[in-house]
Amino acid sequence: MVKTGYSVKPIRKTFLPFHRPLLGAEEEEEVIRTLRSGWLTTGARTQEFEKTFAEYIGCRHAIGLNSGTAGLHLALVALGIGEGDEVVTTPITFPATANVIVHQRACPIFADIEPETLNIDPNEIEKKVTPRTKAIIPVHLAGYPCDMDKIAAIARKYDLKVIEDAAHAVETEYRGRKVGVLGDAAAFSFYATKNITTGEGGMLTTNDNTLAEKVAILRLHGISRDAWKRYGHEGYKHWDTLYPGYKYNMFDIQAAIGIHQLKKVEKFLRIRKKYMEMYDNAFSSIPEIKLPPRGKDIKHAHYLYIIQVKTEALTADRDTIMNAIQAENIGIGIHFRALHLQPYYRNSYNYKPGDFPNAEYASDRVISLPLYPAMTEEDAADVINAVQKVIQRYRKKVQLKK
Ligand SMILES: Cc1ncc(COP(=O)(O)O)c(C=O)c1O
Repeated sequence: MVKTGYSVKPIRKTFLPFHRPLLGAEEEEEVIRTLRSGWLTTGARTQEFEKTFAEYIGCRHAIGLNSGTAGLHLALVALGIGEGDEVVTTPITFPATANVIVHQRACPIFADIEPETLNIDPNEIEKKVTPRTKAIIPVHLAGYPCDMDKIAAIARKYDLKVIEDAAHAVETEYRGRKVGVLGDAAAFSFYATKNITTGEGGMLTTNDNTLAEKVAILRLHGISRDAWKRYGHEGYKHWDTLYPGYKYNMFDIQAAIGIHQLKKVEKFLRIRKKYMEMYDNAFSSIPEIKLPPRGKDIKHAHYLYIIQVKTEALTADRDTIMNAIQAENIGIGIHFRALHLQPYYRNSYNYKPGDFPNAEYASDRVISLPLYPAMTEEDAADVINAVQKVIQRYRKKVQLKK
């Protein structure tokens, strides 16, 4: 039990986790078939998952990796981004988005977010462009697409590469086009809590043949393509080291899960949408809660349901509210606390409070509520009751008008 100073009889008897994956007999049986096949590493199942993923996204190439982070990193490597270069990204993201820039000895440059979508603000990106800027990494937070037309226009104007961080965004569309093909490359994540999962895993997508060839080589030590076949029935083939590559390949046990998760991706989204609508209906009348964005001409993946608690209208800060919701036996997440104020980035690049006001406002107010297909309508109703109860408890006497 979390210490809150908030003592209650919880809404739920048992703890509702923030996320639980929904895996079925199909995934289990495919994993067992893989284990019995004698081929565990990158092979036919990875190829099949790559093919069906590329078809789903509508891109030429999908390259299976062991994480979304690997996808972001390999995109930077393959696009030649390195020492002395600058890459613009959002402070409201998971550390991996900026860490990979540092791994390349390039400099992460943050740009503030739009207060409504919590995505990077294209106008702020343009203010950060210098002669050293080489790329932009927009993050489609929670599965809501960034304003990619504006970002593409900036990229064209200053000759920059665009790498989409699509870790939350498998189903996302922007003006009729799926994310994953709106920049030079995109990285998807199949981490345990993601839209679809392989436990750990990722995919890089691109329409660029040369980039795809390079990434496919870099993901497996930099040795010549198809080296994974070297022990197969086609006979031993020599391989050559073309680059000092990485050990980032997806393997067939992961792909065995992914093949079946992908078949369920739209069904999972339909279930999440049902709970999202329950939350919207319940919270739209609570003035102390800012709802997640809804946009026209887009398809939102609804990977996360991020509310912002208007702490100025409450008698408690976000962490107190967060702990109180947990004390009601409801798991929550935080996506995300602003990266520029976290120790490494703050100390290494001299960022300070006040640098990105919109990001800092959100950073202190966001709470993600459970939203996943393995939960039930009763679970969603418990979440609603818990949030209503906690807000009621910490409401200021003079209430805000919605
Ligand atoms: C926005 C964002 N980018 C990148 C990643 C990294 O993905 P992975 O955990 O698959 O490396 C995550 C993971 O949570 C993420 O949320």
